[in-house]
Amino acid sequence: MREKPATVTGYEFDELRSLIESRSGILFDASRERFFSTRVREFVAERGLQGGTDLLRLVSSSNVEYSALLESLLTQETSFFRYPAVFDALAKKILPELQEKKFWDNPRTLRIWSAACSTGEEPYSIAIAVADALPFAEAWRIEILATDISRRALQHAERGVYTGRSLDNLTPQQIENYFTKTRHGYVVKPRIRRMVSFAPMNLTQAVYVGRMDCIFCMNVLMYFAEERRNSVIQRFSECLELGGYFLLGHAESLSSVPVRLEGLVLGDCRIYRKPAKESAVKQAVMAEGSL
Ligand SMILES: C[S@@+](CC[C@H](N)C(=O)[O-])C[C@H]1O[C@@H](n2cnc3c(N)ncnc32)[C@H](O)[C@@H]1O
Repeated sequence: MREKPATVTGYEFDELRSLIESRSGILFDASRERFFSTRVREFVAERGLQGGTDLLRLVSSSNVEYSALLESLLTQETSFFRYPAVFDALAKKILPELQEKKFWDNPRTLRIWSAACSTGEEPYSIAIAVADALPFAEAWRIEILATDISRRALQHAERGVYTGRSLDNLTPQQIENYFTKTRHGYVVKPRIRRMVSFAPMNLTQAVYVGRMDCIFCMNVLMYFAEERRNSVIQRFSECLELGGYFLLGHAESLSSVPVRLEGLVLGDCRIYRKPAKESAVKQAVMAEGSL
């Protein structure tokens, strides 16, 4: 006789949705209903649970089980140089500007944050763009902080071994310069690997990361509810240096976010900058209608 599939009621799905939203910020709305319910049912079956009540009890009482459920629900699609226009803006506008601004600093540091870095392609792309754009990268202290809520994704990132389509946007020259081909795939070379530090971090929890020259936060805030998204962006804006840059994914924008960053259109992308003077930030905060 076939086993009856475990049942999760509408009420239990709602409870799970609100638990996940309150802990991770990720909102599973109607547009992702099918994905959510399928993954939850699979998790219930894998654990041999009776149904939604058992599942709620399990994930509310065990952080390990909660994290395992969350891992199964995360979308981790990414690739090297995912939006070429953004990396063009980094190479042609942001890095030259920072290079000029910091040229006489001692030490000459550059701090970039890849918030929600998934399996590492984004922070390594940033490191490659920096190595390509800065003529004497060794003369700089380059710190690329790469964080994500998913420990599984971070383990992949730390290994730095890549295969398949995620490499498609790299040029043959970049592959040759920055990767070693092995039988497991393309391995990021130490000079790129050294620039990046990986750490687990939940964006909904305020953690002090110091001042950043540039923050990439791509393709994650679109899964957050509006209020939560706004408060995370507010925190990003506070930790940016004056004149620092903020970069979102190409389908995302700050147009309805009450944070005062200047929007600049460069080629095919829109990037955001914190005004270079404190007084301009204050004025912008008072002005209506700015971004
Ligand atoms: C679609 S990937 C984006 C990866 C990369 N930024 C890009 O655009 O290619 C979204 C990432 O956000 C992470 N994520 C989701 N919620 C998060 C949270 N609350 N804190 C930190 N990372 C989170 C997921 O684990 C996933 O790796």
